[in-house]
Amino acid sequence: TGAPLIDPFGRTITYLRLSVTDRCDFRCVYCMAENMHFLPKAEILTLEELDRLSTVFIDHGVKRLRLTGGEPLVRKGIMTLVSSLSRHLETGALEELTLTTNASQLSRFAKDLAAAGVRRINVSLDSLREDRFRAITRWGRFQQVMDGIDAALAEGIKIKLNVVALKGVNDDEFDDMIHFCHERNMDITFIETMPMGEIDQNRTDQYLPLSKVKQDLSQRWTLSPSPHKTGGPASYVTVGETGGRIGFITPLSHNFCESCNRVRITCTGTLFMCLGQDDAADLCAPLRASESNAGIINAIHHAIERKPKGHDFVIDRLNNRPSIGRHMSVTGG
Ligand code: GTP
Ligand code: 5AD
Ligand code: SF4
Repeated sequence: TGAPLIDPFGRTITYLRLSVTDRCDFRCVYCMAENMHFLPKAEILTLEELDRLSTVFIDHGVKRLRLTGGEPLVRKGIMTLVSSLSRHLETGALEELTLTTNASQLSRFAKDLAAAGVRRINVSLDSLREDRFRAITRWGRFQQVMDGIDAALAEGIKIKLNVVALKGVNDDEFDDMIHFCHERNMDITFIETMPMGEIDQNRTDQYLPLSKVKQDLSQRWTLSPSPHKTGGPASYVTVGETGGRIGFITPLSHNFCESCNRVRITCTGTLFMCLGQDDAADLCAPLRASESNAGIINAIHHAIERKPKGHDFVIDRLNNRPSIGRHMSVTGG
């Protein structure tokens, strides 16, 4: 195996987020505009190429691999990729193979995912009220998501629910969501809305600092700090009343970049060193130029040398011009 990937700030890259498609079957209003331009299929890496890139990273110390999108389960042949990547779980090179999904297709895939060694998945769901869910996703079918969650739980897959906290949209149902999750033995994390990509709404109006959410919750729940760590940016508390956990992902109100361990690859083979920065490196050209991985490895090492200290999200820029022009769906968060 190759040299570990260590950035100029001494952070070791052990976590790769691989976006397998930029497409999604929903158009969540805080994430995408109604009219999105998706990449032509010809520009998207093949499943074999995605596998090869992932394998290079695993050879260089990546222990956790998360498939993202868009929506990863709408990529054709996705289970071929998952099953193939699971060989790295068997050798012990990889500790975790997982995905972040909207669960719309999950009931179809739960069994095969479990069989491939996926133990834990993150499900994005911002409301438990059917009418509201439809308004947020623009046309998503709530029951499909519920069925997907049930199917995964039935397979013994652990679930963390991701909830983007949106003022005036879903901030009156956080208690219900905590109940829903903890009754099912699921973690829940709240996320601050990030100023990425043009949408048809004003993010400033919807921004809810999670410090405030936590304070509100602590009026009604007994929260105590939890040592739980997933390798992700959430910081967790335990709820006395339920025994369950709540995580807070706070890129804007409290930065967590100093412990960053991750990079992400888009479905066209572009490596982003930070979610909240534009700098990127092309891995597609070296991938296609040669059967040997030397060019890819070289490009990765050069890119990691430029990994920025942290993101440049600015709360003021939630409005009109976002801090980052690309949408979350380009890198899957
Ligand atoms: P685990 O901790 O492994 O469960 O996953 P995660 O929370 O890191 O990943 P998930 O895909 O569930 O992402 C949840 C939210 O965290 C999404 O909104 C991501 O965009 C955000 N997120 C994940 N990683 C980063 C990061 O490095 N920086 C920032 N700013 N946000 C991130
Ligand atoms: N800010 C914060 N989270 C976002 N997501 C999508 N767009 C944004 C945004 N602008 C979330 C999704 C999913 C995760 C990958 O990112 O809801 O949970
Ligand atoms: Fe890492 Fe960038 Fe996320 Fe900060 S914003 S944790 S540096 S990817």
